[in-house]
Amino acid sequence: MYFSEEIIAEVQQKNDIVDVISQYVHLQKKGSNYTCCCPFHNEKTPSFSVNQARQIYKCFGCGEGGSVITFLQKYENMTFPEAIKFLAERAGVALPEETNSKANRARENRRARLLEVNKEAAKYYYYILRSSRGDVGMDYLERRGLTEETRNQFGLGYATVSGNDIVAYLKSKGFKDEEIRDSGLASFSEQKGLSSKFWNRVMFPIQDSNHRVIGFGGRVMGEGEPKYLNSPETEIFDKSRNLYGLNFARTSRKKNFILCEGYMDVIALHQAGFNQAVASLGTAFTSGQANLLRRYTTDVLLAYDSDGAGTKAAIRAIQILRETGLYSKVINMKPYKDPDEFIKNLGAEEFQKRIDEAENSFLFRVRIAEQNYDMQDADGRTRFYKEVAGMLSEFADEIERENYLTAVANQYGVSRDGLREQVVKSAMRGEVKALQRPQSAMGADKARADDSKLKPQQLLLTWLAEEPELYSRIKPYITAEDFTDELYKPVAKRFLADLEVGNANPALLISLIEDPEEQSKISALFTTRLDGIETKEERQKALHDILMKVKTNSYEYYKAQSGTDIDAMRKMIEGKKALQELAKTHIFLE
Ligand code: UTP
Ligand code: MN
Repeated sequence: MYFSEEIIAEVQQKNDIVDVISQYVHLQKKGSNYTCCCPFHNEKTPSFSVNQARQIYKCFGCGEGGSVITFLQKYENMTFPEAIKFLAERAGVALPEETNSKANRARENRRARLLEVNKEAAKYYYYILRSSRGDVGMDYLERRGLTEETRNQFGLGYATVSGNDIVAYLKSKGFKDEEIRDSGLASFSEQKGLSSKFWNRVMFPIQDSNHRVIGFGGRVMGEGEPKYLNSPETEIFDKSRNLYGLNFARTSRKKNFILCEGYMDVIALHQAGFNQAVASLGTAFTSGQANLLRRYTTDVLLAYDSDGAGTKAAIRAIQILRETGLYSKVINMKPYKDPDEFIKNLGAEEFQKRIDEAENSFLFRVRIAEQNYDMQDADGRTRFYKEVAGMLSEFADEIERENYLTAVANQYGVSRDGLREQVVKSAMRGEVKALQRPQSAMGADKARADDSKLKPQQLLLTWLAEEPELYSRIKPYITAEDFTDELYKPVAKRFLADLEVGNANPALLISLIEDPEEQSKISALFTTRLDGIETKEERQKALHDILMKVKTNSYEYYKAQSGTDIDAMRKMIEGKKALQELAKTHIFLE
């Protein structure tokens, strides 16, 4: 943490969360909250809610939540210091120099310089493409059917045959040798000094979701290896956490995203009106990218190459998407190789039809598996059904499994019961496999089991955030130790201590947490819905119930540990006393 808590608190206090979020989305007042459709996932009815009193937002659809700082980190892809600086500037808060550590300042400066180098380089390549020295590149792009508007939108450029002019240009702009080298645009050797990595290539600037150039892909003109050369990863270019085209796709407001393999595919799709297309950056699709997509959508359509390599990559991407909780379908590109060729030959309308007919990704996997077996042969068929049964047993959710079972049975004309029997067998045989189930599927099971324990803890903190004056009433019964979740405990500890001195600030607590996933979880702590509690009697009863549940859980939690741990034994005994005390206590509220 490079900023003092006082500074973070001040910056937050001077930037009202409703004002700031209103600059990005259209908030409407509803009761004591403000709501709108969630900017982090696609939806038709608003479940995104901003609580002005607590300075917290929360989406009850996708679970995103946090403070005004968190919002900027997630929506604008800012780092924590960037968000602080942005808000400080917005509200005219002077940031004391010393709060920013030297190392961090140096890092921020380096990042800023790298962004500058990339920006200047993009401008230069852009200019060259449109000059007489860029004729080769321009002819190429015209031949590939890109309009002027498209070329400009994507900032396409050209690196000349000699290539090294970019180095001279960047030097003339005042960049140091190390800066040019660190940007990955040129390599450095003692003998030759800097030499440009990109030459005789059409240049595709790669932008982050805020349109900042963070790297390049360059396509060779004519034959040559590699066909596409990409910038190496740098301090500002993390290939596993960015997607080509996302800067445009994120505001496309389509109900799905299209994931494809190549830069040209993205561009061709956007030109044809499919501005929800993105691609990974010369590497395989990663879970970091899936998480990025999850901010904007729940449905991803795969438009991978129709060859063997593309199919394999698609199957991997399907798994990653599923593990991230996204639904996927596969677009059939045949008889063409990729979306770019498809659109060039059959046009946008035909592509839209293929989108509408996209195949469920599980059935796609089944169909691909089928190709490995001789379906004319009885044994071949048996082995195929066994493999499918294995795939079906991967579904932890029974409804989902049953639905797919029915779909497969219908499609392949086998008996549902027979197939189900195989699935059960496969699940039993596959105890080991069940343990290797994707992280999130396991996480989901555990989440359900934990929910009944965690919910009362969340409700209690939400209630205290809403009515801090209640604290003195329940103080005799509750301690931070009662918050048994390892993430909740430190937060509760701090929050209760703040309440003790009459200075509770949940939004600040959230901002002090670095991990964005954790920020969302902690936001849930302070924004759980307190439904159906209206009258005084209801409130008294609800509060009592919640306290009882929290205490009971805590008692059981420490009891389970107390066999080996004296400290846990003490907590259990104290917990039991408090529980008995509480059971006969009636809490009176005003
Ligand atoms: P493809 O080889 O399928 O390219 O690579 P493409 O999009 O059809 O290219 P054109 O139409 O011939 O120009 C797809 C993606 O894989 C990465 C690039 O990101 C490319 O867009 N790639 C491919 C590389 O990074 N390096 C390569 O040498 C080839
Ligand atoms: Mn292509």
